[in-house]
Amino acid sequence: MTAAVGEHQGQIAVVTGAAQGLGLGIAQHLAQRGAEVVMVDRQGEKVTAAAAELTDTGLTVRAACADVTSSDQVHELFRDVAQQDGRIDILVNNAGLGQDVAAITELSDQHWQQVIDVTLTGTFFCCRSAGRWMRRRESGAIVNISSINGINPAALVAAYNVAKAGVISLTRTLALELAAYGVRVNAVCPGPVYTDFNRRVMSQRCESLGIEEDEMIERVRQAIPLGRWGQPSDIAHTVGFLSSPAAGWITGEVVRVSGGLEGVSAAPPKQPLPEDQP
Ligand SMILES: NC(=O)c1ccc[n+]([C@@H]2O[C@H](COP(=O)([O-])OP(=O)(O)OC[C@H]3O[C@@H](n4cnc5c(N)ncnc54)[C@H](O)[C@@H]3O)[C@@H](O)[C@H]2O)c1
Repeated sequence: MTAAVGEHQGQIAVVTGAAQGLGLGIAQHLAQRGAEVVMVDRQGEKVTAAAAELTDTGLTVRAACADVTSSDQVHELFRDVAQQDGRIDILVNNAGLGQDVAAITELSDQHWQQVIDVTLTGTFFCCRSAGRWMRRRESGAIVNISSINGINPAALVAAYNVAKAGVISLTRTLALELAAYGVRVNAVCPGPVYTDFNRRVMSQRCESLGIEEDEMIERVRQAIPLGRWGQPSDIAHTVGFLSSPAAGWITGEVVRVSGGLEGVSAAPPKQPLPEDQP
């Protein structure tokens, strides 16, 4: 059994995109430090199973199925949490959607919108709803998961870069607007962590470069000054700190957690132009 003691004792935390990957690691970390965590994901069965596994280890978590792109579902989610638990102390906006690797000149309207909807608009919906509850209690901490791509864009994932840059601006704006109420808002920009999300992007980049996945993984590793890929726990520790009382005088900050990697330009070589375009 994992004893839940620590700086988040008795706090109510909501983590989006918590069925797997970084969100699951963040939910576990906060719960291990005493928070009661609501694990939100649109994959209902998967998040329920993940929550059950953490509960079996003695942690206090529960699953909630919601799609962050639905304004109504997000509104109901936070209303339900606030009614059941009396408050929301921590929100971690982690749900995000990677873009299929494609040049801006080839990017469809639909895929652009889909990535912006989940990654930026979903974060806005959750910030708006939780922000209202936190403002009323004059306390709370929001941590938004952006990316190093939000600071330094990589080629062929424009919608994702723009969405993550938007998350940084949203974070800094909300930090100003909620400061008078004692609510803190910060962003974390992870570097590469080998989750399902990254695996998909890597395999697409391998295809476009004509190299094997192992070679790509090694290239990325070598580009990281600290010489290794990140782990979900690397990100979770920073989120835990930013949402804890120890970070009580930190708001509007953007913290890169990337082994020193500032970004990857990944500019592609010149390609033959499609016949059906100017
Ligand atoms: N893995 C990395 O290398 C990396 C690097 C930088 C930033 N990030 C960011 O970290 C976050 C988590 O990444 P990950 O690698 O764990 O991704 P992941 O794809 O493994 O997990 C994302 C989770 O979000 C959920 N989700 C997606 N759309 C949703 C929606 N509309 N409503 C509710 N839940 C939804 C998915 O079901 C999934 O469980 C994302 O915002 C991602 O952009 C990841």
